[in-house]
Amino acid sequence: MARPSKLAHVVYMTRRYNQMLNWYQTVFEAKVQYQNPAFAFLTYDDEHHRFAFANMSILNPEGIEMDATSKVGVNHVGYTFSTVGELLETYERLKQAGITPYWRVHHGVTLSVYYRDPDGNRLEFQVDCCANADEAHTFMQSDAFALNPIGVEIDPDVLLAQYRSGTSQEQLLKLPVGPPAPIPREHGL
Ligand SMILES: [Fe+2]
Repeated sequence: MARPSKLAHVVYMTRRYNQMLNWYQTVFEAKVQYQNPAFAFLTYDDEHHRFAFANMSILNPEGIEMDATSKVGVNHVGYTFSTVGELLETYERLKQAGITPYWRVHHGVTLSVYYRDPDGNRLEFQVDCCANADEAHTFMQSDAFALNPIGVEIDPDVLLAQYRSGTSQEQLLKLPVGPPAPIPREHGL
């Protein structure tokens, strides 16, 4: 059976067109490949477009904005960084730009920070904590995961300071001891 070889792009419909373009350019250091008043295509790597934005104020000016937090559909899109250092440096860069995560959590299998864009769409920036998919699968079958499948809250500023002082990647990626992280209201579940 043939399967897709990769995820290509995500397309957002918005009535905050310029805000959304600015936010995705900042967060992903993305470049605008093409833009007109109704559509824009952005990329941050070798894909011709990773994001597209449809300006609903032009395409459907009479339409009403739906409450993005209470609908069924996509909860978030997750993006993996290669190293915990890259994740933490991105966290810091965005914090300096005034963009902060609404949830900071070690899921056991990933260390994750979650953001909401100007429309309230969620995304997760993560780093894998397991060496491979087999190790992650084994952890997800464990008693520890059954007891706490959500994870433990983390403080990225503390991890960043530890990273800067030379703490190993292995140590930074360890699941901290703590109670199950509460799921924030902003997560929409
Ligand atoms: Fe996720």
